[in-house]
Amino acid sequence: MLFDEYATEHLADGAVVLRGAAEPVATDLLREISSIIDQSPLRTVMTPMGKPMSVEMTNCGAVGWVSDSRGYRYEHLDPITGLPWPPMPARFSSLAGSLAEDAGYRGFRPDTCLINRYSTGSKMGLHQDSDERDLTQPIVSISLGLPINFKFGGTKRTDPTISVKLRHGDVVVFGGAARLAFHGVGLLHRGTHPLTKEFRFNLTYRVT
Ligand code: SIN
Ligand code: FE2
Repeated sequence: MLFDEYATEHLADGAVVLRGAAEPVATDLLREISSIIDQSPLRTVMTPMGKPMSVEMTNCGAVGWVSDSRGYRYEHLDPITGLPWPPMPARFSSLAGSLAEDAGYRGFRPDTCLINRYSTGSKMGLHQDSDERDLTQPIVSISLGLPINFKFGGTKRTDPTISVKLRHGDVVVFGGAARLAFHGVGLLHRGTHPLTKEFRFNLTYRVT
């Protein structure tokens, strides 16, 4: 284990919450995030149906997740800058690898990290993370800043969901039987966090 002891909560077969696991490095992560945003800015992306998403996004790593009228996919170049996405900081990848290992997944080497920024009223509907070719690898998701309700269900949209509050520093790892589980987050309520002010950041590490 990389840091101090923390509680592991079972979410579903293959999925856990590591409570506060990223809290000790939150300041470093936020500094890296701000440098990434300087190179590849946060942007509002459109769903393939032409609706703007309420969460602003950017990426780092060899590829980045994009969405527009042509669909959801990974791209090597940032469509705004025309340049490669900022490289994934070494700290990001080693952290994600050890968090995955703590959750029971060895050898996790993400090639992309999606950075989501939620502001008051942002939310994310139930969805599967299914744009990756390699579904043998888990997903590591770090929450920073304001709390939010996270919903986690089964592999069918109609499966029942459970709801857990994710707070600053909490980490969700889902893979195996839960890799294609439907998940989403409820509305971000107005608030202020000492490190992120009125925002919540989510870092989603994936192997594409
Ligand atoms: C996502 O599933 O893409 C984001 C989850 C989160 O913000 O916690
Ligand atoms: Fe997701």
